[in-house]
Amino acid sequence: MASSEKQLKKQAEKGIWKSYFRLMFKAKLPWGWIIFVSALYMFSSTITLAFPNFASKVATGVLKPYIIWGTVGLIVADVIMSGVVRYFNKLLVAKIDVSYRSLIWERLIKSPLRFFDQMKPTTMITRITTDATKISTVLGSYLPSLAATIYGTIGVVAVIFTYDWRLALSVIVYIPLYLIFNLFYGKWNYRAFKETYNRLSTLTQFLSELLMSVPLIKTFVTEKKEDERGHKNLQYYYKANMRRYIIMWVENPINGILSITSDILVILYGGYLVKAEIITISEWLGFFMYIGMLWGMLGSFLMMYVEIKKSQGATDRIAALMDGDLEVSERNFSISKLEDNIVFKDVAFSYGEKPVLGHVDVTIPVGKVTAIVGPSGSGKSTIFSLLQQFYQPNSGEILVGKTPISEYHLTDWRDLFAGVAQDSPMISGTIRENIVYGVNRDVTDAELAEAAEKANALDFIKGFRDGFDTYVGEAGSNLSGGQRQRIAIARAILRNSDILLLDEATASLDSQAEKFIQEAMDTLMQGRTTIMISHDLSNVQDADQIIVLNGGTVDGIGTHDELLKTNELYRLLVQLHTSSSAG
Ligand SMILES: Nc1ncnc2c1ncn2[C@@H]1O[C@H](COP(=O)(O)OP(=O)(O)OP(=O)(O)O)[C@@H](O)[C@H]1O
Ligand SMILES: [Mg+2]
Repeated sequence: MASSEKQLKKQAEKGIWKSYFRLMFKAKLPWGWIIFVSALYMFSSTITLAFPNFASKVATGVLKPYIIWGTVGLIVADVIMSGVVRYFNKLLVAKIDVSYRSLIWERLIKSPLRFFDQMKPTTMITRITTDATKISTVLGSYLPSLAATIYGTIGVVAVIFTYDWRLALSVIVYIPLYLIFNLFYGKWNYRAFKETYNRLSTLTQFLSELLMSVPLIKTFVTEKKEDERGHKNLQYYYKANMRRYIIMWVENPINGILSITSDILVILYGGYLVKAEIITISEWLGFFMYIGMLWGMLGSFLMMYVEIKKSQGATDRIAALMDGDLEVSERNFSISKLEDNIVFKDVAFSYGEKPVLGHVDVTIPVGKVTAIVGPSGSGKSTIFSLLQQFYQPNSGEILVGKTPISEYHLTDWRDLFAGVAQDSPMISGTIRENIVYGVNRDVTDAELAEAAEKANALDFIKGFRDGFDTYVGEAGSNLSGGQRQRIAIARAILRNSDILLLDEATASLDSQAEKFIQEAMDTLMQGRTTIMISHDLSNVQDADQIIVLNGGTVDGIGTHDELLKTNELYRLLVQLHTSSSAG
């Protein structure tokens, strides 16, 4: 178990380069810019490479005019070039950043609901914010500078060999040593980094859950328990951080020893070569400077390696996002009006592993009212999701007449529906924006007021100082449940769709409001195919057909009177309802 886990971990660490290449070609990267910035880097490297050659001569008193002016020119050019490179590099990072963000955004919008069920919102937020930043920084800054660093390293090695091959060779043996240590170290460091990162994520998640459930915590007086949980998480994070700092600390002395011994070698052996008049003092000095550059470049390679490894989580997550299926809207047929019955033919469905519906065979008559009743969790809302094709059935078919609904253009199909749901979703914005959301035409103020009035929402909207321009807060958090529902009803009225889906549409209303709403609903339902889910059985008695659902299968179908005679569960539900509303 533990070893297979380890293996999995290793495999995950290996896949990184593949993920990277895939990602590089999925987004429309500004290749022209990448090449341009790489060229700038090369140019800048060339200037840097030339500098020690000149500077060492000046330092040792070789004062020919071309050497003095060359040195001055190189200093100026170096400063200007590094500024220019930095500017264009930032520009490039920004360009790459926006192309990844739009790619992620597009994918998220077009991903099927199934995809979102598997991921927490906090994870998704990380993806769009930090993951994109990480990838664009790595691709934008390291990709162009990589080429220049390789070029610079080769350049330095070539130059030091022209000074003296023995001296060069004695230093070059350090390179594998340095690389091997740092590669192992990099891996080690990366694991420690990942551990801290995971601990921090846990902590963040804990915090966000905590903040969302403050009322719950206060109600059940669980502050002490939550406090302890929080401290435990903090301790884990602290320990992981300590481990990371210890590992970071190890790197310094070891690399220090490596570079000091190589410096001593250059000084002692170089001194000997100067004394023996094999090389000049200025060559010795130049050599020394180039070796410093070499260590710097090796350091850059390692930094790139570590940064790329660090961004691995982000890369994997985004690669997974890129590989998922998308909803395809383009299909064989268009549809603008429901003209035939909707038929469920032996439909089975599960969310992941969990079976929710099995062998559902029902017909939903066009233009009529169908009610779905059944215990909580029996799959009622799931039927709505399947109808709107948020999910596809695992087996069986949903048809309109003889055509599977999956043959209709998806946008056409979803346009047929207007819904008022159990927890009617809101967008953050004004009441007006929420009412006209998804209504694809211009809406006049008079129409807006009429719809609000019909939904029995006009009074409370007028009660707000800003009326229709009242800001509803994040996801409508400034509104009560009943207010949100009435806004959703007004939206459904305006949308004027063929099929109405009412999921407990009147659940959050008091009986007074409910009466008004019921009237509004009755007008709204006229001539439309309505499917309603209700626990309030007095609402469903007039339905043309009632489907009783139990544990994901159809327990009975019929009118109120028929079901009272034939269906045990229905009778029970009615009994429960009458006794609860009496009490
Ligand atoms: N997105 C989801 N992922 C996994 N399981 C789900 C998901 N949505 C619903 N379920 C499960 O599917 C089953 C049916 O849920 P559904 O929402 O259809 O029930 P319901 O009949 O509408 O219940 P209620 O009357 O409480 O609204 C439940 O057991 C529920 O836990
Ligand atoms: Mg439900």
